[in-house]
Amino acid sequence: MSRHETVLILDFGGQYTQLIARKVREQSVYCEILAPDAPAARLREAKPKGIILSGGPDSVYAPGAPVADADLFGLGVPVLGICYGMQLMVHRLGGKVEGGGRREYGHAMVEILHEGNLLRGLGPREQVWMSHGDEIVALPGGFVESSRSDAVPFASAEDPARRLYAVAFHPEVVHTTHGVPMLRNFLFRICGCRGDWTMASFLEEACDRVRQEVGTSGRVLCGLSGGVDSSVAAQVIHRAIGERLTCLFVDTGLLRANEAEEVRDRYERRYGLKVLYRNASSRFFEALKGVTDPERKRKVIGEVFVRVFEEEARAIAGEGRIGFLGQGTLYPDLIESRSVRGPSATIKTHHNVGGLPETMDLKVIEPLRDLFKDEVRRLGLELGLDGELVGRHPFPGPGLAVRILGEVTPERVALLQRADAVFIDEIRREGLYDSIAQAFAVLLPVRSVGVMGDGRTYENVLALRAVETSDFMTADWCRLPHEFLARVSSRIVNEVRGVNRVVYDISSKPPSTIEWE
Ligand code: XMP
Repeated sequence: MSRHETVLILDFGGQYTQLIARKVREQSVYCEILAPDAPAARLREAKPKGIILSGGPDSVYAPGAPVADADLFGLGVPVLGICYGMQLMVHRLGGKVEGGGRREYGHAMVEILHEGNLLRGLGPREQVWMSHGDEIVALPGGFVESSRSDAVPFASAEDPARRLYAVAFHPEVVHTTHGVPMLRNFLFRICGCRGDWTMASFLEEACDRVRQEVGTSGRVLCGLSGGVDSSVAAQVIHRAIGERLTCLFVDTGLLRANEAEEVRDRYERRYGLKVLYRNASSRFFEALKGVTDPERKRKVIGEVFVRVFEEEARAIAGEGRIGFLGQGTLYPDLIESRSVRGPSATIKTHHNVGGLPETMDLKVIEPLRDLFKDEVRRLGLELGLDGELVGRHPFPGPGLAVRILGEVTPERVALLQRADAVFIDEIRREGLYDSIAQAFAVLLPVRSVGVMGDGRTYENVLALRAVETSDFMTADWCRLPHEFLARVSSRIVNEVRGVNRVVYDISSKPPSTIEWE
C-alpha cells in the first residue's frame, strides 16, 4: 500500500493499539501495525510519514520488556510515544524512568505548560485518560515538559528539533476529551500528512491488485456466507474481473430463518453475481447427531464444511480451471503483533468460511486484508451494497449450532429460527438494530413447567442475548427497555410452539462470551 501516505504503529502490547490504528484511519491516514522490534530497515522501507509507539503493560525495566530498534529515533521521522511508548523514548534517549514510582490510572486533569505543535488549540487544562505504572523523573536532553498532571510532572513532553513527541496519557480513547485533535495535530501539523486514504481510492487499488494477481484469464472461486466480509470481498473481485468470478454458497442448514433464500435472491438478482448454491444441511445434521460438546460441534461443522466446499470447488474447477480462492480475511486476522489476539481466539475454535486445506492448490486472494471491520462496511456502501446487508450483525461460522445447547436437530434449529426471527423483527421495529452490536436467541437444553390456557406445559426455555461492543473482545449486555422485553417474550411464547419461558442474558464479556458455546 505504498501509494498512500503511511503511518506506522509499533505495538508494545497495549490494549488500545488497534484503537490507535482505527483513529488514525478515521482521519483518512493509512496506517499499519508492526511488531515492536521491527528492524529499522523495515521501517524505512515503508517510507512512513510518522511512527507511533503504542502503550503496553510492561515496565521498561522488566526483563523481556519489548524494545524497539536502536535506530528508531534516528530515522528523521516524527515519532509519537504513547504511555509505554513515552517511557521507552525517555529511557532510550537518556532520561530517567523510575520503576515503582507514582502510578496513575483513569481520569486525570493535565495543565498545558507549552502548546507546541502537538497540543495546539487545546485549553489550559484538559481531561485525559492515564494509565502508567512507572514514573518519569527526568527528561532526556533537548526535551521540554509540555504538560503536567495533578499527580505527576511530565504528562507530555517534546523535542521539536528532532520531532519527537510523547504523552503519558491515551489520546486514542474517548475519555481523553480532546484526544482526536491531538492525534490530528500529530498527523497533519507534525507529520505533514494530507489524508489521502479514502474508500474510493482503496477500491480502485484493490481492483487493480486483484487483476494483477489473477491475470487476464484466471478464474476465482469465492465462498459466500451471507455475512458482510465475504459479500464485500466477492463484490470487489467481481468489479475487478466480472464473469470470471464464481461464488459458492453452502447451506449448512444452521442459518437464520430465510437466510439461504435471501442470500440467493440478493446476490444473484440484485448484485448480479454468479452463485452456485449447495444445500448440504442433511450432511451437517447427520454429522451432528449425538454431538453435545461445544468444541466437538465446531470441529464437526468445520470438517463437513471443508469437505463439501472442496467437493464443489473440485467440480467447478474441473470445468473451468479455477486457480484462485477469494476470501474475506480482514486486517485484524493478520496482524502479527503482541496485543491483537483476543482471548476468544483461543477460547473457542473459530471456523470461517473457506478455511480450505492446501491440497486444493488454489492461490488465495484477499482483497480486504488491509481493512478493519468498519472500513469494510464503508467499502460495502461505496460498492452499492444495501445498508441492511452492510449493517448486519455478525453471525458465527458454525451458525445456530452454537446457539442450541445440547444436541442439534432439524426440529430444534427450526424452533430457534422462529424465535430468533421474532426477536430480531421486534428489534428492527423498535429502531434498535443499529445501536446493538449483536442480538440473537439461544435455545437451552432444559425444559420448564408453565401454564397455558387450562393446561400445564413442560417446554423449552429460550434465552435472549443482546450486546454492545466495539471490538467483540469485550462486550456489555444491552439495557433493553422492560416493556420491549415483555413484548418480545409474549410474542415468542405465543407464536413459537415449544417455548414456554423466555429469559434475558445479563452477563458481560468477560467473564462470559458473546455466544453461549
Ligand atoms: P465470542 O462468543 O467468542 O464471540 O465472545 C465473539 C464474536 O465472534 C463471533 N464468533 C464467530 N465468528 N466463527 C465466526 O466467524 C466462529 O466460529 C465464531 N464464534 C464466535 C461471535 O458471533 C461474536 O461476534
